[in-house]
Amino acid sequence: MATLWALVIAHLLVLLPLLQASVEFELHGNVYPDGYFYVVMNVGEPAKPYFLDVDTGSPVTWLECDFPCQSPKHGPNDMYKPGPSNMVSCEDDRCVTVHKDLRAVHDCSKNPDRCDYKVGYVEESSTGVLLADKFSLPTSIETRPNLAFGWPRSGDPVGRCPRHLRGTGDFTSQLKQQGIITENVVGHCISIHGGGFLFFGGDSNMVPTSGITWLPMAQRIGTYYTPGEATLNLNVQQEYPVSMKPMRTIFDSGTTYTYVHMTTYARLINAVGITLQSSTLKRVYDTALPVCWKDIEPIRSIDDVKNKFQPLDLTFGHGDKQVTLEIPPENYIIVSESGNVCLGILNGSEKGLQEQNLIGGIAMQNHIVIYDNESKQIGWVRSSCDGMPGHAPLIGSRL
Ligand SMILES: *[C@@H]1O[C@H](CO)[C@@H](O)[C@H](O)[C@H]1NC(C)=O
Ligand SMILES: *[C@@H]1O[C@H](CO)[C@@H](O)[C@H](O)[C@H]1NC(C)=O
Repeated sequence: MATLWALVIAHLLVLLPLLQASVEFELHGNVYPDGYFYVVMNVGEPAKPYFLDVDTGSPVTWLECDFPCQSPKHGPNDMYKPGPSNMVSCEDDRCVTVHKDLRAVHDCSKNPDRCDYKVGYVEESSTGVLLADKFSLPTSIETRPNLAFGWPRSGDPVGRCPRHLRGTGDFTSQLKQQGIITENVVGHCISIHGGGFLFFGGDSNMVPTSGITWLPMAQRIGTYYTPGEATLNLNVQQEYPVSMKPMRTIFDSGTTYTYVHMTTYARLINAVGITLQSSTLKRVYDTALPVCWKDIEPIRSIDDVKNKFQPLDLTFGHGDKQVTLEIPPENYIIVSESGNVCLGILNGSEKGLQEQNLIGGIAMQNHIVIYDNESKQIGWVRSSCDGMPGHAPLIGSRL
């Protein structure tokens, strides 16, 4: 009998890593004033902590460069320094995948020993090489998979170094390939108070089982997840239609603010202005963002002013079926350091985004946003994102 139990327990121990098929990270940063979110990843042998930006739109995960960059934020450690063994060769499958994802030519004749690529973002574009190293993951069982990530090529002009160290898109598929998660699912919860959490894998205990609004991933624009075209309206009665026709909409947590096309932008400023006419708020110049208002007294927090603004409705049409995401005022305004309230929706045309509209991190605050690449849908549910329920700050405790 004892032998039988020993066998059962041995089997359970073998199964245990399979049961925990998700990885969770504590998220740091905020919309304002930092303007970015990141997790701490322990990389290398011995493992050292580095910052990794949360960007569900990026096909490449970045790590800090080892030349002086004009970066306002550096990792808690020295800059990452790769050894020759960290180079991913051009013929490597992971290089083939990156080139395919970036729609780049896979030509290994010039530099067969390395994997060069170029990536463009809203804020900047950058060139880099693909490296691989051991990542110590915060799972209950010690897991140190070898994962590929991008590294800005030394010798690039200073300033081309990406300010935002980005990642997550390709991370998810690598984690699945290595059996650490069972489903290609990634999600995040950005707290309105800053911080939050990020998770990989579909069976995270961070995800509620009901109440999630799901949108099909209608199409792919480049490497971005998009639920298709949407109309934007101010207030629930749709009294102020802001976008005249459905607009292409992308979810991009790597972008802090929301960006809309200039016609939508002009109509939005106008509509918000009308709804504020009877309030004590008056337009004012502020260096924080282009469109700001002051009150009689300096504004201390979002709670002081959010009731003066109306929620925005983002309505996606899928045939006869319409799905609406509400963007409450606190997810499109910020309170500046000067005590003014500013619009966190910006002019996408100024960034050359053309018809594309980006739903940035600000709009996703206090929501669990789930990118499910298995069932090709995006989930959205209100949640307090303060802290990780039932978890100690796993990463911090491992340093
Ligand atoms: C999502 O799944 C498709 C295959 O269905 C794959 O080509 C793509 O790389 C996946 N995206 C991510 C970000 O993992
Ligand atoms: C938005 O940007 C475009 C392109 O730079 C510009 O022409 C337009 O005037 C801007 N709109 C507003 C309302 O600032």
